[in-house]
Amino acid sequence: MGRLDGKVVVITGAAGGMGRDAAILFSEEGASVCVADVDREAAEQAAGEARDAFPRQVDVADADSVRGMYAAAAERYGGIDVLYNNAGISPADDDSILETGEEAWEHVQAVNTKGVYLCCKYGIPYLLERGGGSVINVASFVALVGAATSQISYTASKGAVLSMSRELGVQFARQGVRVNALCPGPVETPLLLRIFGDDPAAYERRRVHLPMGRLAKPREVVNAALFLASDESSYVNGATFLVDGGLTAAYVTPED
Ligand SMILES: NC(=O)c1ccc[n+]([C@@H]2O[C@H](COP(=O)([O-])OP(=O)(O)OC[C@H]3O[C@@H](n4cnc5c(N)ncnc54)[C@H](O)[C@@H]3O)[C@@H](O)[C@H]2O)c1
Repeated sequence: MGRLDGKVVVITGAAGGMGRDAAILFSEEGASVCVADVDREAAEQAAGEARDAFPRQVDVADADSVRGMYAAAAERYGGIDVLYNNAGISPADDDSILETGEEAWEHVQAVNTKGVYLCCKYGIPYLLERGGGSVINVASFVALVGAATSQISYTASKGAVLSMSRELGVQFARQGVRVNALCPGPVETPLLLRIFGDDPAAYERRRVHLPMGRLAKPREVVNAALFLASDESSYVNGATFLVDGGLTAAYVTPED
């Protein structure tokens, strides 16, 4: 028996990084998965590796595109039980507030903040139709702690995702819809590895603050998402669900 038997899950940003891992793991656990991503080809590849999944191109910043994604998933599988709003970006031109232009700011807000807003706005009604469900909104540890290596629009967007999730969790609790903000620490995915590039100093600047002395593996975060998607988390709602290896608990970290 799988932990997600019979559930229909829509995962955005499912062609790469943690979303791709989740699509494969969730389908192994019995879910039917809509593998949604702006990158059509990569979504097709990821869906091809999953047990029961179909690819769907989506731009989470576009309302029509988001509506079309949910309509396609509901038509194919007969309804939707879990929204895993994972798509997010962290572009190089999002930097210190002194450097970041309005265009760069708005690009990140469009995908990370408006994207989650649209995915909840148009996805939650499908969960209500089923009499309940689980929403996992991916925020970040940067919603809780400040970084001197700033990406100001990204950080602000994740704060918005966290507070939006809390409010939705409260609003829909009596209708059976749970909404949680999954807050990973730094994870070994293309999103973060792009920032480090070939720069060991940029990596070390961050690693020193991690109590565990290493980044998370994608699967370590996706395992938490699996719990939040499943009925095992039936009393977890409105949570700031940290999977950060103790980063936000730390003052002084161990020496190597
Ligand atoms: N990697 C980390 O260290 C880390 C830490 C905390 C939170 N997060 C968050 O976790 C989530 C997943 O991150 P990741 O590291 O796996 O990223 P990633 O860059 O590896 O994958 C993100 C995926 O989202 C897709 N995407 C980008 N824009 C999109 C759009 N407009 N519409 C639909 N899909 C789009 C990309 O094509 C890609 O497949 C993001 O929300 C990210 O902010 C990541």
